[in-house]
Amino acid sequence: MHIYQTIADLRQALQLVKDDGLSIGLVPTMGNLHKGHLSLARLAREQCDFVLATIFVNPTQFGPNEDFQNYPRSFDDDIAALKLINCDAVFAPNIEELYPQGPKLETLVSVPNISKLLCGASRPGHFDGVCTIVTKLFNICPANKAYFGEKDYQQLAIIRKLVHDLNIPIEIIGVPTLRNTSGLALSSRNNYLNAEQLKQAAVLYKTLQLTADSIKLDKNPNYSELEEAALENISSAGLKPDYFSICDAPSLFPATVNDKDLVILAAAYLGNTRLIDNISIKLA
Ligand code: PAF
Repeated sequence: MHIYQTIADLRQALQLVKDDGLSIGLVPTMGNLHKGHLSLARLAREQCDFVLATIFVNPTQFGPNEDFQNYPRSFDDDIAALKLINCDAVFAPNIEELYPQGPKLETLVSVPNISKLLCGASRPGHFDGVCTIVTKLFNICPANKAYFGEKDYQQLAIIRKLVHDLNIPIEIIGVPTLRNTSGLALSSRNNYLNAEQLKQAAVLYKTLQLTADSIKLDKNPNYSELEEAALENISSAGLKPDYFSICDAPSLFPATVNDKDLVILAAAYLGNTRLIDNISIKLA
């Protein structure tokens, strides 16, 4: 497995892959790989001839008071894990390679409206940073498919819109969330939690499940009341909820009783750690 650090070297190598008529699967990550990330790479391995994972903690998607400096980094372990699943190559550039003028001075890619909702409302500019780095990676790597986790549901929806709106010829594959035995979605940020907090954190998915069950069972559910009850449930477990929103899945706008394809999205703080999760529901 080759590790590339420069765009020029990576492009040269990928040109040879393309010349051989091979398909490329791209797995963008910020490293600190857990089983969830590896499930993306495994699916890419199944579906594509050549698998490229990227490891880059992208500064432009972190707010000024967020955890960019402390974000968990475990490069050697990540490389070992990717080798085990027969990943073909890794792109691990430094910041100057991707942002030669410094992250603040670069062009930004912004998907309007949907980027301002939910996590975008609490983390202004976050999705512009994500869209910018993802567009750069798509321009650097002529992938056939790119793999993203469904845990970051809003990110996935925004990236789908980005490739649609900008005519980027890459198929976006969403990969189901992996969870620990308590139901907590796997996330690099779970590394910040101590044993007690890991137990507490399970309330987020439990509340999503309870709310989803209520919506399915109740013929006339009141979404605002359900959201209020969920926020209360999350608070009483010691988390500080950011939002809990029952949404129309295609638009991510608040759901109305006529919507059938729903997703419930939630974010909450446990200490300084921000957790997000979601659950999808199809109504008949
Ligand atoms: O989901 C992530 O890990 C990041 O947002 C991504 C897509 C790798 C962009 O930095």
